Amino acid sequence: MSFYDLKGKTALVTGSSRGIGAATVIAFAKRGANVVVNYNTSREKAYETASKARSYGVDAIVVKADVGNWEEASKLVDETVKAFGGIDYLVNNAGIFQLKPFIETGPEDWFKMLKTHVLGAMNVTRRALPYIRKGGGIVNISSIVGVKPSPGPGRVAYSTAKAALVGFTTSLAVELADKGIRVNAVAPGLTLTEMIIKGIPNLDERAKKIPVKRIGTPEEIAEAIVFMAVHPYITGEVLVVSGGE
Ligand SMILES: NC(=O)c1ccc[n+]([C@@H]2O[C@H](COP(=O)([O-])OP(=O)(O)OC[C@H]3O[C@@H](n4cnc5c(N)ncnc54)[C@H](OP(=O)(O)O)[C@@H]3O)[C@@H](O)[C@H]2O)c1
Repeated sequence: MSFYDLKGKTALVTGSSRGIGAATVIAFAKRGANVVVNYNTSREKAYETASKARSYGVDAIVVKADVGNWEEASKLVDETVKAFGGIDYLVNNAGIFQLKPFIETGPEDWFKMLKTHVLGAMNVTRRALPYIRKGGGIVNISSIVGVKPSPGPGRVAYSTAKAALVGFTTSLAVELADKGIRVNAVAPGLTLTEMIIKGIPNLDERAKKIPVKRIGTPEEIAEAIVFMAVHPYITGEVLVVSGGE
């Protein structure tokens, strides 16, 4: 049987109204998995993503939840379980970005970054764990700046949060290995989504510095995420998907 035949499985992808999360929902749906689309503010885009997923013949639900909030993260998991009875794949993707020099970064900026990425992943994973089926996989979305030096200034809070997700991944993988649940991370390089279109200046110039001379697409990252979610013999690993950076 192909690893990629996901008929009857359930994938919960946080922050999947748009960007990499939305592409990941579609990559799961194309392979037959039922999907949960989570959004925080982009309601309309979340419903569009769910509708596109359904066009592949799967079931899709949409749940509004700020993953950094325990009650809302719990509701996200509870509604998933109510709809599908359990979870096979959890992708902790929800994220924010802010380009700001460290000297200007106050405790509120710092906390918001850690709250969304690190507390968010912890909240959803902690609540979901009793419902993740044996053979399932968790994928945390880190970043190339969580594992390698930043390409420029202004990313200290972001890269600290993304590096924390690497520790979360490798330690949780050890803790869950004998329960038949794998935990991995994908660390994307620059990927063409609203996050960088709004957040990073001079993208064309920046793209020239990438060895393959172009910015990645959300679909290319989504394929790597599904691979890490379903591969039965990979756990505790971080896959960098960055065009060679
Ligand atoms: N794009 C890149 O170059 C790049 C590179 C490396 C890593 N990443 C990581 O990849 C992930 C996806 O990024 P992206 O580029 O696809 O960004 P994006 O286009 O800005 O999308 C971010 C998504 O996260 C959701 N989100 C933000 N805060 C949330 C919260 N508190 N609770 C629930 N959902 C929340 C947003 O939902 P709403 O719109 O509904 O609020 C949206 O669906 C992030 O973790 C990001 O750090 C991106």
